[in-house]
Amino acid sequence: MRPPISEEIIDLRSDTVTKPTAAMRAAIASAEVGDDMSGEDPTVNRLERMVADLLDKEAAVYNCSGTQSNQMAIRAHCQQGDEILIDETGHIVNYEAGGPAALSGVSARCLRGRGGLLDVEDLEGKVRPDNQHCCITRLVCIENTTNLGGGRVWPLDQVVRVGEWARSHGLKVHLDGARLFNAAIAAGYSVKDFTSHVDSVSICFSKGLGCPMGSILVGDNATIQRARRARKLFGGALRQAGMMAAAAIYALENHVNRLSEDHDNARVFAESIARIDGVRLNVADVESNLVFFEIHPEFGTAAQLSATLLQRGVKINPTGPQRLRACTHLDVNQSQVIRAAEVIRASLSEGIQKSKSDVRGAYAAR
Ligand SMILES: Cc1ncc(COP(=O)(O)O)c(C=O)c1O
Repeated sequence: MRPPISEEIIDLRSDTVTKPTAAMRAAIASAEVGDDMSGEDPTVNRLERMVADLLDKEAAVYNCSGTQSNQMAIRAHCQQGDEILIDETGHIVNYEAGGPAALSGVSARCLRGRGGLLDVEDLEGKVRPDNQHCCITRLVCIENTTNLGGGRVWPLDQVVRVGEWARSHGLKVHLDGARLFNAAIAAGYSVKDFTSHVDSVSICFSKGLGCPMGSILVGDNATIQRARRARKLFGGALRQAGMMAAAAIYALENHVNRLSEDHDNARVFAESIARIDGVRLNVADVESNLVFFEIHPEFGTAAQLSATLLQRGVKINPTGPQRLRACTHLDVNQSQVIRAAEVIRASLSEGIQKSKSDVRGAYAAR
């Protein structure tokens, strides 16, 4: 086994790996709390109002995870037997344990967009006819930024088109905005500019925003009321959650603008690895904090590269046989991403371990 280049671990697996800062921990410790199930947690209430106002929607419900928010939205918008339209790379259909079918009796029609982004031409003709043989097409699900789609950012005019198309076909639109603030910072629009074209939005606090946990679902009063019932049904109703809501408020006030640093670091990393023999990557595709790249098969597999990097102190997960994803975040700086790129260069030029690696479950891109 080769020794690590440095003892320090550089963890680029996901922005979910961040640890709360001292200031965030202080906000957590001093939070006022109450029983959220009874609507009595003042900090949760403050967070829900704050995010609903930020997105210009009527209501919001705080909950445990992005998965839970998305599944609550599907349950709130759909009836059993309904169908959603979604890009084939969507987190909702790839990484949420079959939630639409298991929790809501909903099937998914997966469409092939570009970089995880759908446009009207992809959706046209996909609404089932009003006919007893067919399920009812109810909801379009989109993701901004896209995850498995490549960290892409939706242009504003595209969501306007998709929103108008959905409305004209009597469909609702749910936005999986796990990394919506990354998108807004990268594109230079406000979250409100984007969310005015969709009916519900989930946002994660535990990713780029750096909280230990938490997500929020935002929409109109009726949708959020149904989603609250789903939250209870799915076992996710909360009690003194104000401590975690305080972390989310702290993050909204202090960690949004700094996301541009993560995007800069992602670009620096991408530019560095794009020059390495055996790495395939289009730097122009890197629009946020996610960097997807491929290793040429003659150098080995993504899992083998990942295992070799781990031994040398760099954590990057495979997302496919030849594809890997690196993610920048609050807990990595520019010199660390440059060092990680150097480790990739050294590993590929010296030859990566060709041992058979166990990749079961390793392809999840959180
Ligand atoms: C686009 C997207 N949506 C939803 C989620 C789910 O979030 P969580 O892991 O909090 O359930 C993730 C993260 O894994 C994600 O990347």
